[in-house]
Amino acid sequence: MIKVNNLIKKFNDKVVLDNISFNVNDGETLAIVGFSGSGKSTILKIICNLLEQDSGTVETSKGDIAMVFQYSALFDSLNVFDNIAFALTERKDLKHKYSKEDLNSIVKQKLMLVGLTGIEDKFPSELSGGMQKRVSFARAIVTEPKTILYDEPTAGLDPISSTLIEDYIVRLKEETHASSIVVTHQMSTIKRTADRVLMIYKGKKVFEGTPEEMLNGGNDYTKQFVTASLNGPMQMLAE
Ligand SMILES: Nc1ncnc2c1ncn2[C@@H]1O[C@H](COP(=O)(O)OP(=O)(O)OP(=O)(O)O)[C@@H](O)[C@H]1O
Ligand SMILES: [Mg+2]
Repeated sequence: MIKVNNLIKKFNDKVVLDNISFNVNDGETLAIVGFSGSGKSTILKIICNLLEQDSGTVETSKGDIAMVFQYSALFDSLNVFDNIAFALTERKDLKHKYSKEDLNSIVKQKLMLVGLTGIEDKFPSELSGGMQKRVSFARAIVTEPKTILYDEPTAGLDPISSTLIEDYIVRLKEETHASSIVVTHQMSTIKRTADRVLMIYKGKKVFEGTPEEMLNGGNDYTKQFVTASLNGPMQMLAE
């Protein structure tokens, strides 16, 4: 469960989140959409405690919160194995819990889940962007989190790799019953993964509904988004 109430966040007097509220139930995936700079990543960063809100509250289920970053953010100097095992080998509360054999099998299982096997010894620079993304996905879920936040998990991937990642997001939700948020610009990701969609513009919620409601009408904001139109209530030009 994720409960966000009346979130307000300013950066240097610029209001980036303007009273945002929403809930995500256990086992549910919420897609957050909106133009660049509308505050999507900021919401995720506040939920996982990387940033502090100015006011408002955030509640999540007990357990770990995983964040799959917009850019893969792997540790360049660590190989794939050490990247994925990182939380289990470095976190105070976890580092003595697993034997080398446990770690080997956990890393192998997570790699399999993202369709990669036998690349434990490779370094991030030896992998394609899409593979890096999938490794960062494996790293995020290594602690069996109850809350999973994905920041543009399919950005920059070819359509087939996108479908793969979308399937992992769905499979993971079914396996863990986690509450997930997926920030995305891609309709395919919304359609495949989301139970509900939240659209924000200039830090305000302008739509909340199911993907079907968004596609079959919605409102002027979703219409503009779905048709990628320059005309509508949302203007891209700098104010
Ligand atoms: N640490 C920061 N310091 C100052 N301003 C910031 C900071 N982080 C974000 N912002 C500003 O807050 C606004 C929202 O940023 P955010 O990264 O949440 O947007 P976004 O919706 O994720 O955009 P994109 O689709 O491009 O990733 C932007 O105007 C951005 O410049
Ligand atoms: Mg972002």
